[in-house]
Amino acid sequence: MPITFEVMEKDIAGRQGRLKAGSRTIRTPALLPVINPHLQPVTAGEMKEMGAEGLITNAYIFSRSEEFREQALSHGLHRVLGFDGLIMTDSGSFQLSVYGEVEITNMETLRFQEAIGSDIHVPLDIPTPPGADRLQVERELGLTMTRLREARETLGPDAPLAGPVQGGIFPDLREQAGREVGELGFSFCPIGAVVPLMEAYRYGELVDVVMAAKKGIPASSCVHLFGAGHPAMFALAVAMGCDVFDSAAYALYAREGRYLTPSGSAKLQELSELPCPCRICRSHSADELRESPEKERLLALHNLHVSLAEISRIRQAIQDGVLWELVDERCRSHPALLKGYRALLSRAATLEERDRVSKRRFFYRGSESCARTEVIRYHAMLERLTLPSTVLVSMDGRELPGFDLVLPFRPPFGPYPPELGETFPIGQSEIPDWDEVMVAAGCWGIANLIETHPGCRVSISCPDKWTPVVRKEVPGVEVLP
Ligand code: GUN
Ligand code: ZN
Repeated sequence: MPITFEVMEKDIAGRQGRLKAGSRTIRTPALLPVINPHLQPVTAGEMKEMGAEGLITNAYIFSRSEEFREQALSHGLHRVLGFDGLIMTDSGSFQLSVYGEVEITNMETLRFQEAIGSDIHVPLDIPTPPGADRLQVERELGLTMTRLREARETLGPDAPLAGPVQGGIFPDLREQAGREVGELGFSFCPIGAVVPLMEAYRYGELVDVVMAAKKGIPASSCVHLFGAGHPAMFALAVAMGCDVFDSAAYALYAREGRYLTPSGSAKLQELSELPCPCRICRSHSADELRESPEKERLLALHNLHVSLAEISRIRQAIQDGVLWELVDERCRSHPALLKGYRALLSRAATLEERDRVSKRRFFYRGSESCARTEVIRYHAMLERLTLPSTVLVSMDGRELPGFDLVLPFRPPFGPYPPELGETFPIGQSEIPDWDEVMVAAGCWGIANLIETHPGCRVSISCPDKWTPVVRKEVPGVEVLP
């Protein structure tokens, strides 16, 4: 059966949906914890208990394992791992990116993944590292596309195949790869070779790469971010339209003695408190956890708990339409994430096209909020207002006589017809005392109104304090004394 994806709710370019592969369905955004049959700090059964609806494992490891190969072939992956949820298998491409070669062909790994009963199979794509020059990227992308075509042609249109999107750090190649993968009929598209970017905290470039790939991938496809990662970046990735993550971070961090939090991580050695509501943290002191013979396993359990809880939080944020607030909160926890956040905001005009119409609230959280999709959309909406010949934009609440219409002003949006005062975003926006950036953004709204209504004479009544901002942002406008 083919892989299908259904979107239920949207926020920014993020989606809450349902991914169906064969007879198994998971809610998205989803985290598929990575499970390695040889070293399992956390069992699949425990993962399921903690709320994981799916997981990912490496078919290459199974195919090379004396212990597990025959078991998986005769009993199937689900029985061997003891997990009846969705299991995705990776092909060995990751080994390819680390060791340079693998002893398996594209069709061999796919046939093996099929034989062990994997729900989603990954072809042997080539994860080209970010440092590769254009020639290498083009050559390897060509090989990846050949293998995807081979997979599709051999296994047929209904095979549960993932179509990895490669292309290095070249936006045009990522976009082209995304488009071609869509044209080949892949409805589940992992964005590949981003692990080196995430490991080096290059979140600005990560945003560029993902946004470029998303531009090419059909909007109806489910998008997986291969190898992500730390829970602090999930919200950012979801805002761009990533639906699935496959994190080994919970185990890798645990091995290093690192304790994940939704916004960062800490060395267990340096903690005197365990600030988390999970079972492990509530039943151990920091000292007890440090000294436990099961330390790595307990840390892994906690880390996975934090990662899965963040996914739940994101799903709820999408339902409520408060994903921007969550992205803002998370991305302020590290300057590298802030860089990614700013890169995302610089593309808000693109995101606006995919954003929803109405949300629960708009909380102003500082100057970055002025670049949000809702502000861009509001400014564009002003063009469509029908206005009489004379309009007063009243920034100070004064209702001077002699105007056909008085529009109140709410930064960072701008002027609004009183009848829109209760509707989103004006009515649901919470702002602190005005600041200069916010007022300037509101003034762009006024400027837009003037530019798009040449037959209308617009005047402004404003508190003295804001007159310089108004004169700068709306040059030539009449400001009433
Ligand atoms: N795991 C992390 N990155 C990748 C990738 O680019 N391709 C595959 N197949 N697996 C990965
Ligand atoms: Zn915990």
